[in-house]
Amino acid sequence: MQIRDAVHADLPAILEIHNDAIRTTTAIWDEHEVELDERRAWFDARRAAGLPVLVAEVDGGVIGFASYGPWRPKTGYRFTVENSVYVHPEHRGQGAANALMPVLIDRARAGEVHSIVAGIEAANAGSIALHEKLGFRRVALLPEVGFKFGRWLDLAYLQLTL
Ligand SMILES: CC(C)(COP(=O)(O)OP(=O)(O)OC[C@H]1O[C@@H](n2cnc3c(N)ncnc32)[C@H](O)[C@@H]1OP(=O)(O)O)[C@@H](O)C(=O)NCCC(=O)NCCS
Repeated sequence: MQIRDAVHADLPAILEIHNDAIRTTTAIWDEHEVELDERRAWFDARRAAGLPVLVAEVDGGVIGFASYGPWRPKTGYRFTVENSVYVHPEHRGQGAANALMPVLIDRARAGEVHSIVAGIEAANAGSIALHEKLGFRRVALLPEVGFKFGRWLDLAYLQLTL
């Protein structure tokens, strides 16, 4: 498995993983799939801001991606980011997130990031275990701030201070 910076050619695969997470999971609290143009705009904005978008590649195919962006827009929050990590459903449990996340954290450390925040649906045991294994600690729980698939969702905040 190779971890590398994403390029434009990876966007269809990133889009497929992203839209699958919208359709089938509570990892993204969105009900509408996005178009390739929107993902391209997201990617270009991240790259223009010097923010990493990493992909995990196996046999020439992208099976997962990880990134971070501003946690909140006001300047006082500029040393804090919010991360995301998504793996193709057919490739989960094969170590892609394990490979992506340490590289993402290294990028944060090498930059000016002081704190990484992960907002995770409280019942997403896999993602919570992944982040805790990487040193993130649960710092907050916001009950019933989301609604998807006909039910309320709780948001757990996990944080890694670098
Ligand atoms: C959460 C997710 C990113 C994990 O990616 P993955 O490549 O399947 O994870 P890995 O195989 O690298 O496993 C990494 C660690 O995550 C945890 N983990 C992953 N899947 C798990 C599961 N089903 N149950 C419990 N722990 C799990 C474990 O701690 C694991 O470490 P270990 O193998 O040493 O025990 C992936 O399942 C996914 O994309 N899920 C849907 C989207 C999502 O929830 N994204 C996170 C949003 S906050």
